[in-house]
Amino acid sequence: MSVHSSDIKRVTTHTIQEMKNRGEKISCLTAYDYSMGGIVDAAGVEVILVGDSASNVMAGHETTLPITLDQMIYHATSVVRSVSRALVVVDLPFGSYQGNSEEALRSAIRIMKESGAHAVKLEGGAEIKESVTRILSAGVPVMGHLGLTPQSIYKFGTYTVRAKEEEEAEKLLADARMLEEVGCFAVVLEKIPSVLTRQVSESVLIPTIGIGAGPHADGQILVLHDLLGITKEFKPRFLRRYADLHTVMSEAIANYVSDVKGKSFPNEKESY
Ligand code: KIV
Repeated sequence: MSVHSSDIKRVTTHTIQEMKNRGEKISCLTAYDYSMGGIVDAAGVEVILVGDSASNVMAGHETTLPITLDQMIYHATSVVRSVSRALVVVDLPFGSYQGNSEEALRSAIRIMKESGAHAVKLEGGAEIKESVTRILSAGVPVMGHLGLTPQSIYKFGTYTVRAKEEEEAEKLLADARMLEEVGCFAVVLEKIPSVLTRQVSESVLIPTIGIGAGPHADGQILVLHDLLGITKEFKPRFLRRYADLHTVMSEAIANYVSDVKGKSFPNEKESY
């Protein structure tokens, strides 16, 4: 018997593969800290991504480029502590894997060892094949990420839909096949046409996880702060907001300020 015996059946890379095989959709969401990680896990999400979008929504940077490996490990460690069911995947940040497969392996091993996460995600196709292969050879599960890859924003110049032209769509399809062939367990498809998502999802056996990629992906992912309506200005067409926490939180805090200033907080029952 395992020393960690529990009634909760953990989601593994095999679980989500079986879900695709059965035609069951996979729900994925980001989280960056202990409190949110626990809520997302308890709500039944299968895959929690500690995304480098933490650079935007947690640290306030304009892009995902500034976040460091140490900072990603800090976020991942906090999330892992709160999760008892979901598969936790962590983004390798910009500069920790591109162009140097030895460094890629070192970065992936640090994430796995120091945070206790279950897998890593890397952005790119053929250009990072060596890094992906090396990480996989150490027994670390890898999720790919194709289409709009925010770590390359200065190469693209914009956050518009990718792979609308045939040449780029063909490269994306070839990259997805390559990622499957080398052993990735899933691939994120970001901001690409719906028809291309369908084509990729039917061409590879591993699960595809879409964001702004239409309904044909095997699973969907959103940034938690966008879904909850904490980020107010970000309004891409693909985003469905399930709450308006920006308003809820602002009103709650304004009420608190008013109660403190009006001397109605704390009252007698709230005092010792
Ligand atoms: O960093 C992130 O949140 C991501 C998702 C948008 C897929 O990579």
